[in-house]
Amino acid sequence: MRDRALNFNIIPHPKKIAIIGTDNVNTADAELRLISDSAVAKEGFSIKFDGKTFKVSFADESGKFYALQTVEQIKTLKKAPEFKIEDYPEYEYRGFSLDCARHSFTVDEIKRLIDAAAGFRLNRFHWHLTDDQGWRIEIDGKPRLNETGSVRKSSDFGGHSDKRPYRALFSKDEIRDIIAYCRERRIEVIPEIDIPGHASAILASYPHLGCSKKPVEVQTKQGIYNNILCVSNEEVYNFLFGVLDEVCELFPFEYIHIGGDETPTKSWENCPDCRKMKEDLGLENFSSLQGVFMKRVAEYLKAKGKKVIVWNESLKGGILTPEDVTVQRWMGGGNSSYEFAEAGGKVIESDFFHYYCDYPFGMTPLKKTYNYEPAKKYKKCGAQKPYGIEAEIWTEYISDFDTLCRFYFPRMAAIAEAAWGGKTSYKDFTLRYRSADEKLKAMGINSAPERDRDLNPLLRIPDIIKFFSGSLNLGMLKDHMEVS
Ligand code: ACM
Ligand code: ZN
Repeated sequence: MRDRALNFNIIPHPKKIAIIGTDNVNTADAELRLISDSAVAKEGFSIKFDGKTFKVSFADESGKFYALQTVEQIKTLKKAPEFKIEDYPEYEYRGFSLDCARHSFTVDEIKRLIDAAAGFRLNRFHWHLTDDQGWRIEIDGKPRLNETGSVRKSSDFGGHSDKRPYRALFSKDEIRDIIAYCRERRIEVIPEIDIPGHASAILASYPHLGCSKKPVEVQTKQGIYNNILCVSNEEVYNFLFGVLDEVCELFPFEYIHIGGDETPTKSWENCPDCRKMKEDLGLENFSSLQGVFMKRVAEYLKAKGKKVIVWNESLKGGILTPEDVTVQRWMGGGNSSYEFAEAGGKVIESDFFHYYCDYPFGMTPLKKTYNYEPAKKYKKCGAQKPYGIEAEIWTEYISDFDTLCRFYFPRMAAIAEAAWGGKTSYKDFTLRYRSADEKLKAMGINSAPERDRDLNPLLRIPDIIKFFSGSLNLGMLKDHMEVS
């Protein structure tokens, strides 16, 4: 049964599939019968093909969307055996991200990415819209973000260096267009407004929101900067709440991401008001001050009916609880993300060594991504599994859409198959991906070729050295050399 089923070209692979009759039946003329059935799992579907009809059952619009997509995929085979598929997602949250702060992309390119992600049944688009290197979301009430924050005077990201100013900003109409496009494809859009760190573009626009109040530039290089928001200044909260009011008005979905990663606390340590705030609150350290800040912003959003996602560093201060936030884990943080999950918290898993897609395959072979078991460490801690899975891509080193695609594909598909469930074997995934590859090519999306996806260990060394040159860390090197 299984061997015959493996001829199907579907990604993610169906969880349950059975051949129920004759082989090699023409699919082209088969009729389609749609049945709404509340007994089918959320976002799930069944398809029964008896040679004459595709009988499709689903309980909701997502199930219908994925079922029809699957019928189309099977029809491209021209002939199929009579079969029955039952399918439903392993994870409710199945994400893909795009960093438009370091390098931005056109609305048309983003729509192509969304089409590809929807094809792999991903249902959350995490859109990184603000960072040290640029502010990309139009905010009517804070015009300097649009005028000053959206421009850097040049770009110097390792391989690419460009002396010309770089400007990009999504208008509200463009954002609404992308949201509508996602909705039609059963995808929720989660904007990320990264605070209190990664804030150079905010401070370049409104320097009084920093501890020193000194002028700052939108950054032209990759890095972690000390340009962070002053958390003891009420004007910072007034500013943020104004921005977030507009963000909430634009994005009609459940979640807003408020960042909270890579926040050095030096500015707060040097700020008399931030030091006083820490003492007045009896906090042990400045990481707790970050926790207090994130909690206040989360509470503001909660009162507006939203839920909040933060990067896992925000847990460090021990302030945030499962009632306050959903956590996105990418690296480190000791066991806190797993403990948070064990305490009933929702955690989205985006492990750096497996699910970061902006690294060469020499550093993270595709097989290593495919074979990763995201629930393993959660199970060990007694939490069973994370709430969600997300593919990450950052664009310091990616300045055009074709390069973005060669990094993102097929890794996005491998992560999507873990998120939906139904993984088979890496070899089988590779065979199935050949059909997806053809389809993506027709959409103008070129994937990394098979020969580049899994280099032998010796050929991987230059990629690894290149990346870590300057900050070679033996622990990280060991994690990278692992193949699974
Ligand atoms: C991150 O990669 N700084 C979340
Ligand atoms: Zn301060």
